Amino acid sequence: MSLPIDEHVNAVKTVVVPAAGLGTRFLPATKTVPKELLPVVDTPGIELIAAEAAELGATRLAIITAPNKAGVLAHFERSSELEETLMERGKTDQVEIIRRAADLIKAVPVTQDKPLGLGHAVGLAESVLDDDEDVVAVMLPDDLVLPTGVMERMAQVRAEFGGSVLCAVEVSEADVSKYGIFEIEADTKDSDVKKVKGMVEKPAIEDAPSRFAATGRYLLDRKIFDALRRITPGAGGELQLTDAIDLLIDEGHPVHIVIHQGKRHDLGNPGGYIPACVDFGLSHPVYGAQLKDAIKQILAEHEAAERITDDSQVK
Ligand code: UTP
Repeated sequence: MSLPIDEHVNAVKTVVVPAAGLGTRFLPATKTVPKELLPVVDTPGIELIAAEAAELGATRLAIITAPNKAGVLAHFERSSELEETLMERGKTDQVEIIRRAADLIKAVPVTQDKPLGLGHAVGLAESVLDDDEDVVAVMLPDDLVLPTGVMERMAQVRAEFGGSVLCAVEVSEADVSKYGIFEIEADTKDSDVKKVKGMVEKPAIEDAPSRFAATGRYLLDRKIFDALRRITPGAGGELQLTDAIDLLIDEGHPVHIVIHQGKRHDLGNPGGYIPACVDFGLSHPVYGAQLKDAIKQILAEHEAAERITDDSQVK
């Protein structure tokens, strides 16, 4: 039985997880393995997102997948054969581990036949929403925003101001050209919440309206689906979610950001994925201490090799 929306914690029933992209920055691994299933230590990124969605109080994970990425949904199904084998071998802890994804939340598949963009992917999720859902959360599975809890803060902000709420992190000036950057209303308040006037995708340093960059966490009013139907393909010929949000802002829909103070890991490319694995690995109760020693040794070896190269260049 499904709970009415006002009985859901934070009034979010569905979290949309777009996972139908090609993952080209991770080739060749993503030729056959969906990016969302790459492990952070031992747990796929999408399971970490499912845990965050469940913590928010959502009960449905609408996973947007591509026809050739069936493994993403399979991760949220029970695997009775594997469970039986593990039981026979007395590995009950591991049975719990493999059941976790299915137990966390109900995964609902939505197929995106072609990767026509994040906006297109999110738009497809409307078909699985109930009539009483006037808000939907979107969490990108390649973005880890830590510690978790920012969505709860975003839900408080929506309860206060209405409209849609996004998450931002402050990036260095040198990094603004890598992200979607928010243009915010000038205010003097020292608050973690700002009203958004617009968004610029990957601006040059001199054109950046702020240093607040979008992360993969969105709390969107249901009006987003209507806006997504009205936009045309933008950057890269894809339907962009930010264009639909921009359209809503132009039409007077309130959009705020919550400025997150914690960590963020971008699992979408090796350069962000490797530090995420190191970070999670160092905090891991089994592997942490050993990994710390291994990293120290690897660093020492690299530094020694660099010194030899530098010395030979001086000679
Ligand atoms: P990204 O641009 O980070 O993912 O999209 P990508 O397209 O898979 O990666 P690259 O650029 O080729 O390396 C952000 C999220 O949106 C999903 C992706 O799966 C990712 O989780 N997405 C993107 C879709 O579901 N459908 C799309 O058409 C595009």
